[in-house]
Amino acid sequence: MDIHENVEYVMLTAEQIETRVKELAAQMDKLYEGRRPVVVCVLKGSVLFFTDLIRNMKTSIELDFMSVSSYGSGTTSSGTLTIKKDLSTDIKGRDVLIVEDIIDSGNTLYNLKKMLIERLPASINIVTLLDKPDRREAPMEPEYTGFVIEDEFVIGYGLDYAEEYRNLPYVGVLKRSVYEN
Ligand code: PRP
Repeated sequence: MDIHENVEYVMLTAEQIETRVKELAAQMDKLYEGRRPVVVCVLKGSVLFFTDLIRNMKTSIELDFMSVSSYGSGTTSSGTLTIKKDLSTDIKGRDVLIVEDIIDSGNTLYNLKKMLIERLPASINIVTLLDKPDRREAPMEPEYTGFVIEDEFVIGYGLDYAEEYRNLPYVGVLKRSVYEN
């Protein structure tokens, strides 16, 4: 496999991700059988996971996009959520599935879920590809998780460092030398 020179090691191969995404898609099909959920892609990191997940689901769905930020100028997330792009769907009475790439402090999803609940959906579930429970600050547990991972700086398969590496087909650990000077 071709590995980017700034990647220390591959944590999850494209094959491991593909297998797990198919399992999650089957679980989502079971969960939403006979219903038509609004599947929400939280931009930008979740875009690869989102497209692979919905491509493998047989359930009839609607899709929508949201862009939020709980980060200020620093590198740690805070309690305030800024909506950069809102949903175009009215989710009142709808089943909503939020698709995320990673849960770290939990602040983003905690605040996002709280905000969407106020719009009175019939249900809200969260599926995340990656979960870093060691970093948790907010009481946020996703209903469905692809992989629970160690606290490493991961990039690829949607995840970035300074907007780079999102299109790598695997999840890798970034070399420290790239972000430590
Ligand atoms: C990432 C990720 C989650 C959030 C998780 O998004 O996609 O939304 O951070 O962190 P938390 O659990 O500590 O809140 P980011 O703001 O980096 O935007 P991006 O998806 O566009 O890269």
